[in-house]
Amino acid sequence: MELKNTKYYDDQTLKRWIGDDSLNDELATRANKIRREIYGDKVYVRGLIEFSNICKNNCYYCGIRGANKNIARYRLSTEEIIATADLGYDLGYRTIVLQGGEDAYYTDDIFVSIIEEIKGHHPDIAITLSLGERSYESYKRLYIAGADRYLLREETSDKDHYYKLHPRDMSFEARRKALFNLKEIGYQVGGGFMVGSPYQTDDMIIKDLRFLQELEPAMIGIGPYLTQHDTPFRDFSNGSYRKTLRLISILRILFPYALIPSTTSLGTIDPRGREEGLKAGANVLMPNLSPTSVRESYALYDNKICTGEEAAECRACLEVRVKNAGFRIVSARGDVISYNKETRRYN
Ligand code: 5AD
Ligand code: FES
Repeated sequence: MELKNTKYYDDQTLKRWIGDDSLNDELATRANKIRREIYGDKVYVRGLIEFSNICKNNCYYCGIRGANKNIARYRLSTEEIIATADLGYDLGYRTIVLQGGEDAYYTDDIFVSIIEEIKGHHPDIAITLSLGERSYESYKRLYIAGADRYLLREETSDKDHYYKLHPRDMSFEARRKALFNLKEIGYQVGGGFMVGSPYQTDDMIIKDLRFLQELEPAMIGIGPYLTQHDTPFRDFSNGSYRKTLRLISILRILFPYALIPSTTSLGTIDPRGREEGLKAGANVLMPNLSPTSVRESYALYDNKICTGEEAAECRACLEVRVKNAGFRIVSARGDVISYNKETRRYN
Protein backbone atom coordinates (compact mmCIF):
# COMPACT_ATOMS: atom_id res chain seq x y z
CA MET A 1 0.00 0.00 0.00
CA GLU A 2 1.66 3.19 -1.19
CA LEU A 3 -0.23 6.29 -0.23
CA LYS A 4 -0.09 9.34 -2.44
CA ASN A 5 2.31 11.45 -0.51
CA THR A 6 3.54 9.19 2.24
CA LYS A 7 5.82 6.20 2.59
CA TYR A 8 4.45 2.95 3.95
CA TYR A 9 6.14 0.94 6.68
CA ASP A 10 4.46 -1.93 8.49
CA ASP A 11 3.43 -1.79 12.15
CA GLN A 12 6.25 -4.03 13.25
CA THR A 13 8.89 -1.74 11.78
CA LEU A 14 7.26 1.35 13.24
CA LYS A 15 7.00 -0.29 16.64
CA ARG A 16 10.69 -1.13 16.60
CA TRP A 17 11.64 2.39 15.58
CA ILE A 18 9.42 4.05 18.16
CA GLY A 19 10.53 1.82 21.02
CA ASP A 20 14.30 1.62 20.57
CA ASP A 21 16.35 4.40 22.13
CA SER A 22 19.49 3.24 20.35
CA LEU A 23 18.07 4.02 16.89
CA ASN A 24 18.14 7.83 17.10
CA ASP A 25 21.29 8.35 15.07
CA GLU A 26 20.37 5.91 12.35
CA LEU A 27 16.87 7.32 11.91
CA ALA A 28 18.14 10.92 12.03
CA THR A 29 20.65 10.19 9.28
CA ARG A 30 17.93 8.78 7.04
CA ALA A 31 15.55 11.62 7.85
CA ASN A 32 18.14 14.30 7.30
CA LYS A 33 18.99 12.92 3.89
CA ILE A 34 15.33 13.07 2.83
CA ARG A 35 14.87 16.55 4.23
CA ARG A 36 17.97 17.85 2.44
CA GLU A 37 16.80 16.36 -0.85
CA ILE A 38 13.46 18.11 -0.63
CA TYR A 39 13.96 21.25 1.45
CA GLY A 40 17.75 21.60 1.36
CA ASP A 41 19.17 23.44 4.35
CA LYS A 42 16.23 25.82 4.57
CA VAL A 43 14.46 26.43 7.84
CA TYR A 44 11.16 28.29 7.70
CA VAL A 45 10.20 30.53 10.58
CA ARG A 46 6.69 31.39 11.76
CA GLY A 47 6.02 34.27 14.10
CA LEU A 48 3.66 33.01 16.78
CA ILE A 49 1.15 35.39 18.34
CA GLU A 50 -0.51 33.85 21.39
CA PHE A 51 -3.43 36.25 21.37
CA SER A 52 -5.55 34.90 24.24
CA ASN A 53 -5.16 32.39 27.04
CA ILE A 54 -8.87 32.29 27.79
CA CYS A 55 -10.29 28.86 27.01
CA LYS A 56 -13.63 27.18 27.47
CA ASN A 57 -12.11 23.70 27.33
CA ASN A 58 -10.60 21.65 30.12
CA CYS A 59 -8.00 19.38 28.56
CA TYR A 60 -6.38 17.61 31.50
CA TYR A 61 -2.83 18.27 30.31
CA CYS A 62 -3.08 21.96 29.51
CA GLY A 63 -2.21 24.86 31.79
CA ILE A 64 -4.65 27.32 30.22
CA ARG A 65 -7.63 25.00 30.74
CA GLY A 66 -10.70 26.99 31.74
CA ALA A 67 -10.86 25.59 35.27
CA ASN A 68 -7.36 26.77 36.17
CA LYS A 69 -7.86 29.66 38.57
CA ASN A 70 -4.16 30.22 39.14
CA ILE A 71 -3.19 32.06 35.98
CA ALA A 72 -3.75 35.64 34.93
CA ARG A 73 -6.02 35.65 31.89
CA TYR A 74 -5.44 38.03 28.99
CA ARG A 75 -6.76 38.90 25.59
CA LEU A 76 -4.91 40.94 22.97
CA SER A 77 -7.03 43.53 21.19
CA THR A 78 -7.42 43.61 17.42
CA GLU A 79 -5.02 46.56 17.32
CA GLU A 80 -2.42 44.77 19.44
CA ILE A 81 -2.63 41.66 17.26
CA ILE A 82 -2.20 43.69 14.08
CA ALA A 83 0.70 45.69 15.55
CA THR A 84 2.38 42.42 16.57
CA ALA A 85 1.95 41.03 13.06
CA ASP A 86 3.52 44.24 11.67
CA LEU A 87 6.46 43.79 14.02
CA GLY A 88 6.81 40.19 12.82
CA TYR A 89 6.84 41.32 9.22
CA ASP A 90 9.59 43.84 9.97
CA LEU A 91 11.63 41.08 11.62
CA GLY A 92 11.42 39.06 8.40
CA TYR A 93 8.59 36.65 9.15
CA ARG A 94 6.44 35.77 6.16
CA THR A 95 4.10 33.55 8.14
CA ILE A 96 2.17 34.71 11.18
CA VAL A 97 0.47 32.17 13.41
CA LEU A 98 -2.52 33.30 15.45
CA GLN A 99 -2.90 30.88 18.31
CA GLY A 100 -5.20 31.08 21.29
CA GLY A 101 -7.52 29.25 23.63
CA GLU A 102 -11.10 28.63 22.52
CA ASP A 103 -12.25 32.10 23.53
CA ALA A 104 -15.77 33.03 22.37
CA TYR A 105 -14.92 36.73 22.53
CA TYR A 106 -13.24 36.39 19.14
CA THR A 107 -16.15 36.05 16.75
CA ASP A 108 -15.83 35.32 13.06
CA ASP A 109 -16.33 39.04 12.38
CA ILE A 110 -13.37 39.93 14.59
CA PHE A 111 -11.09 37.34 12.99
CA VAL A 112 -12.17 38.36 9.49
CA SER A 113 -11.21 41.95 10.18
CA ILE A 114 -7.86 40.90 11.72
CA ILE A 115 -7.04 38.63 8.77
CA GLU A 116 -8.09 41.21 6.18
CA GLU A 117 -6.10 43.93 7.86
CA ILE A 118 -2.92 41.87 8.17
CA LYS A 119 -3.23 40.76 4.54
CA GLY A 120 -3.95 44.36 3.53
CA HIS A 121 -0.72 45.52 5.18
CA HIS A 122 1.32 42.58 3.90
CA PRO A 123 -0.10 40.72 0.88
CA ASP A 124 2.96 38.46 0.79
CA ILE A 125 2.45 37.06 4.28
CA ALA A 126 0.81 33.70 5.02
CA ILE A 127 -1.62 33.51 7.92
CA THR A 128 -1.87 30.36 9.96
CA LEU A 129 -4.72 29.98 12.41
CA SER A 130 -4.70 27.83 15.52
CA LEU A 131 -8.04 28.56 17.14
CA GLY A 132 -9.28 25.11 18.02
CA GLU A 133 -12.58 23.68 16.89
CA ARG A 134 -15.06 25.89 15.04
CA SER A 135 -17.91 25.17 12.66
CA TYR A 136 -17.41 24.41 8.96
CA GLU A 137 -18.98 27.77 8.12
CA SER A 138 -16.63 29.61 10.42
CA TYR A 139 -13.56 27.88 8.99
CA LYS A 140 -14.83 28.72 5.53
CA ARG A 141 -15.35 32.41 6.29
CA LEU A 142 -11.87 32.75 7.72
CA TYR A 143 -10.41 30.98 4.70
CA ILE A 144 -12.23 33.28 2.31
CA ALA A 145 -11.01 36.25 4.36
CA GLY A 146 -7.46 35.17 3.55
CA ALA A 147 -6.26 32.60 6.10
CA ASP A 148 -3.94 30.06 4.48
CA ARG A 149 -3.22 27.36 7.03
CA TYR A 150 -4.70 25.85 10.17
CA LEU A 151 -3.05 23.99 13.03
CA LEU A 152 -5.22 21.59 14.99
CA ARG A 153 -3.44 18.68 16.58
CA GLU A 154 -5.56 15.56 16.82
CA GLU A 155 -3.72 14.96 20.17
CA THR A 156 -4.41 11.22 19.98
CA SER A 157 -5.99 8.86 17.47
CA ASP A 158 -7.14 6.33 20.03
CA LYS A 159 -10.66 7.01 21.20
CA ASP A 160 -10.26 5.67 24.74
CA HIS A 161 -7.04 7.58 25.12
CA TYR A 162 -8.77 10.74 23.88
CA TYR A 163 -11.18 10.57 26.80
CA LYS A 164 -8.35 10.02 29.24
CA LEU A 165 -6.87 13.31 28.07
CA HIS A 166 -10.11 15.26 27.67
CA PRO A 167 -13.39 15.54 29.56
CA ARG A 168 -16.54 14.02 28.11
CA ASP A 169 -17.90 17.35 26.88
CA MET A 170 -15.21 17.28 24.22
CA SER A 171 -15.52 14.94 21.26
CA PHE A 172 -13.04 12.62 19.58
CA GLU A 173 -15.16 12.51 16.44
CA ALA A 174 -15.63 16.28 16.28
CA ARG A 175 -11.88 16.78 16.40
CA ARG A 176 -11.21 14.45 13.50
CA LYS A 177 -14.11 15.86 11.53
CA ALA A 178 -12.76 19.38 12.02
CA LEU A 179 -9.45 18.35 10.50
CA PHE A 180 -11.11 16.91 7.41
CA ASN A 181 -13.36 19.96 7.14
CA LEU A 182 -10.34 22.24 7.14
CA LYS A 183 -8.71 20.18 4.43
CA GLU A 184 -11.83 20.14 2.30
CA ILE A 185 -12.10 23.93 2.51
CA GLY A 186 -8.59 24.25 1.17
CA TYR A 187 -6.40 25.07 4.16
CA GLN A 188 -2.91 23.64 4.47
CA VAL A 189 -3.65 21.63 7.58
CA GLY A 190 -1.43 20.75 10.51
CA GLY A 191 -2.08 17.77 12.78
CA GLY A 192 0.02 16.26 15.52
CA PHE A 193 0.22 14.95 19.04
CA MET A 194 2.23 15.05 22.25
CA VAL A 195 4.87 12.41 22.83
CA GLY A 196 4.56 10.75 26.22
CA SER A 197 1.19 12.14 27.19
CA PRO A 198 -0.30 10.28 30.16
CA TYR A 199 -1.53 6.75 29.30
CA GLN A 200 -0.01 6.86 25.79
CA THR A 201 1.42 3.58 24.47
CA ASP A 202 3.57 2.93 21.41
CA ASP A 203 0.60 1.28 19.70
CA MET A 204 -1.32 4.53 20.11
CA ILE A 205 1.52 6.41 18.47
CA ILE A 206 1.29 4.01 15.52
CA LYS A 207 -2.42 4.83 15.33
CA ASP A 208 -1.49 8.51 15.14
CA LEU A 209 0.92 7.84 12.31
CA ARG A 210 -1.79 5.90 10.45
CA PHE A 211 -4.32 8.64 11.04
CA LEU A 212 -1.88 11.21 9.71
CA GLN A 213 -1.29 9.05 6.63
CA GLU A 214 -5.01 9.14 6.02
CA LEU A 215 -5.24 12.90 6.58
CA GLU A 216 -2.04 13.76 4.69
CA PRO A 217 -1.53 17.05 6.48
CA ALA A 218 0.84 19.69 5.15
CA MET A 219 2.26 20.22 8.63
CA ILE A 220 2.81 17.87 11.57
CA GLY A 221 3.62 19.25 15.01
CA ILE A 222 4.83 17.06 17.82
CA GLY A 223 6.54 17.82 21.10
CA PRO A 224 7.10 16.10 24.42
CA TYR A 225 4.28 16.19 26.94
CA LEU A 226 5.43 18.48 29.75
CA THR A 227 3.99 18.69 33.24
CA GLN A 228 2.02 21.76 34.23
CA HIS A 229 1.64 22.14 37.97
CA ASP A 230 -1.96 23.42 37.94
CA THR A 231 -3.53 20.59 35.92
CA PRO A 232 -5.09 17.27 36.95
CA PHE A 233 -2.03 15.62 35.35
CA ARG A 234 0.43 17.43 37.63
CA ASP A 235 1.83 14.14 38.96
CA PHE A 236 2.67 12.65 35.56
CA SER A 237 6.23 13.06 34.39
CA ASN A 238 7.46 14.62 31.18
CA GLY A 239 7.53 12.72 27.91
CA SER A 240 10.85 11.42 26.61
CA TYR A 241 13.20 13.80 24.85
CA ARG A 242 14.96 11.12 22.80
CA LYS A 243 11.72 9.49 21.78
CA THR A 244 10.41 12.84 20.54
CA LEU A 245 13.55 13.33 18.44
CA ARG A 246 13.17 9.82 17.07
CA LEU A 247 9.56 10.49 16.16
CA ILE A 248 10.55 13.62 14.28
CA SER A 249 12.84 11.43 12.20
CA ILE A 250 10.10 8.85 11.70
CA LEU A 251 7.71 11.60 10.60
CA ARG A 252 10.24 12.86 8.06
CA ILE A 253 10.72 9.31 6.70
CA LEU A 254 6.97 8.72 6.45
CA PHE A 255 6.04 12.22 5.28
CA PRO A 256 8.97 13.43 3.16
CA TYR A 257 7.15 16.57 2.03
CA ALA A 258 5.86 17.72 5.42
CA LEU A 259 6.55 20.93 7.28
CA ILE A 260 7.65 19.73 10.69
CA PRO A 261 8.42 22.22 13.47
CA SER A 262 11.09 21.84 16.07
CA THR A 263 8.83 22.98 18.86
CA THR A 264 9.12 25.22 21.90
CA SER A 265 8.32 22.22 24.10
CA LEU A 266 11.36 20.43 22.64
CA GLY A 267 13.45 23.49 23.45
CA THR A 268 12.00 23.49 26.96
CA ILE A 269 12.78 19.86 27.79
CA ASP A 270 16.39 20.30 26.64
CA PRO A 271 18.37 23.51 26.01
CA ARG A 272 19.58 22.15 22.66
CA GLY A 273 16.24 20.59 21.79
CA ARG A 274 15.33 22.84 18.89
CA GLU A 275 18.71 22.40 17.19
CA GLU A 276 18.56 18.65 17.68
CA GLY A 277 15.00 18.63 16.32
CA LEU A 278 16.23 20.25 13.11
CA LYS A 279 19.02 17.71 12.82
CA ALA A 280 16.48 14.92 13.36
CA GLY A 281 14.43 16.09 10.38
CA ALA A 282 12.39 19.15 11.36
CA ASN A 283 12.39 22.18 9.05
CA VAL A 284 10.30 24.81 10.81
CA LEU A 285 10.69 27.00 13.90
CA MET A 286 7.87 28.94 15.53
CA PRO A 287 9.36 31.63 17.73
CA ASN A 288 7.16 33.71 19.95
CA LEU A 289 6.18 37.20 18.82
CA SER A 290 3.73 37.97 21.62
CA PRO A 291 4.37 41.02 23.81
CA THR A 292 6.61 39.95 26.72
CA SER A 293 3.98 41.23 29.18
CA VAL A 294 1.69 38.27 28.38
CA ARG A 295 4.14 35.49 27.59
CA GLU A 296 4.37 34.13 31.09
CA SER A 297 0.60 33.66 31.12
CA TYR A 298 0.46 31.41 28.06
CA ALA A 299 1.58 28.60 30.31
CA LEU A 300 0.55 25.39 28.58
CA TYR A 301 3.32 23.66 30.56
CA ASP A 302 5.93 24.55 33.18
CA ASN A 303 9.30 26.25 32.53
CA LYS A 304 8.45 27.39 29.02
CA ILE A 305 11.42 29.05 27.33
CA CYS A 306 11.58 32.58 25.88
CA THR A 307 9.04 34.15 28.23
CA GLY A 308 11.48 36.99 29.07
CA GLU A 309 12.89 37.69 25.61
CA GLU A 310 11.65 40.27 23.14
CA ALA A 311 10.64 39.13 19.65
CA ALA A 312 13.80 40.60 18.12
CA GLU A 313 15.96 38.76 20.66
CA CYS A 314 14.39 35.42 19.75
CA ARG A 315 14.85 36.16 16.06
CA ALA A 316 18.58 36.85 16.56
CA CYS A 317 19.00 33.90 18.94
CA LEU A 318 17.49 31.50 16.43
CA GLU A 319 19.67 32.77 13.62
CA VAL A 320 22.73 31.63 15.58
CA ARG A 321 21.23 28.35 16.74
CA VAL A 322 20.11 27.35 13.25
CA LYS A 323 23.48 28.21 11.76
CA ASN A 324 25.25 26.15 14.41
CA ALA A 325 23.00 23.21 13.63
CA GLY A 326 24.07 23.41 9.96
CA PHE A 327 20.95 25.01 8.50
CA ARG A 328 19.80 28.41 7.27
CA ILE A 329 16.72 30.50 8.12
CA VAL A 330 14.93 31.84 5.07
CA SER A 331 12.48 34.72 4.95
CA ALA A 332 9.74 33.10 2.89
CA ARG A 333 6.16 31.95 3.26
CA GLY A 334 7.35 28.37 3.24
CA ASP A 335 4.32 26.66 1.76
CA VAL A 336 4.18 22.90 1.65
CA ILE A 337 5.83 21.07 -1.22
CA SER A 338 3.85 18.23 -2.77
CA TYR A 339 4.80 15.21 -4.76
CA ASN A 340 3.77 15.09 -8.39
CA LYS A 341 3.35 11.48 -9.43
CA GLU A 342 3.66 12.22 -13.14
CA THR A 343 6.88 14.18 -12.99
CA ARG A 344 8.10 12.20 -9.97
CA ARG A 345 9.25 15.42 -8.38
CA TYR A 346 8.32 17.52 -5.41
CA ASN A 347 6.94 20.94 -6.31
N1 5AD B 1 2.82 19.70 27.33
C1 5AD B 1 3.15 19.71 26.02
N2 5AD B 1 2.34 20.17 25.06
C2 5AD B 1 1.15 20.66 25.44
N3 5AD B 1 0.14 21.17 24.70
C3 5AD B 1 -0.84 21.54 25.54
N4 5AD B 1 -0.50 21.26 26.82
C4 5AD B 1 0.74 20.71 26.77
C5 5AD B 1 1.63 20.19 27.75
N5 5AD B 1 1.31 20.17 29.05
C6 5AD B 1 0.16 21.17 23.25
C7 5AD B 1 -1.10 20.50 22.68
C8 5AD B 1 -1.74 21.61 21.88
C9 5AD B 1 -0.59 22.54 21.59
C10 5AD B 1 -0.96 23.94 21.30
O1 5AD B 1 0.18 22.48 22.77
O2 5AD B 1 -0.74 19.41 21.83
O3 5AD B 1 -2.36 21.17 20.69
FE1 FES C 1 13.84 33.00 22.31
FE2 FES C 1 16.38 31.96 21.97
S1 FES C 1 14.60 31.74 20.75
S2 FES C 1 15.64 33.48 23.40
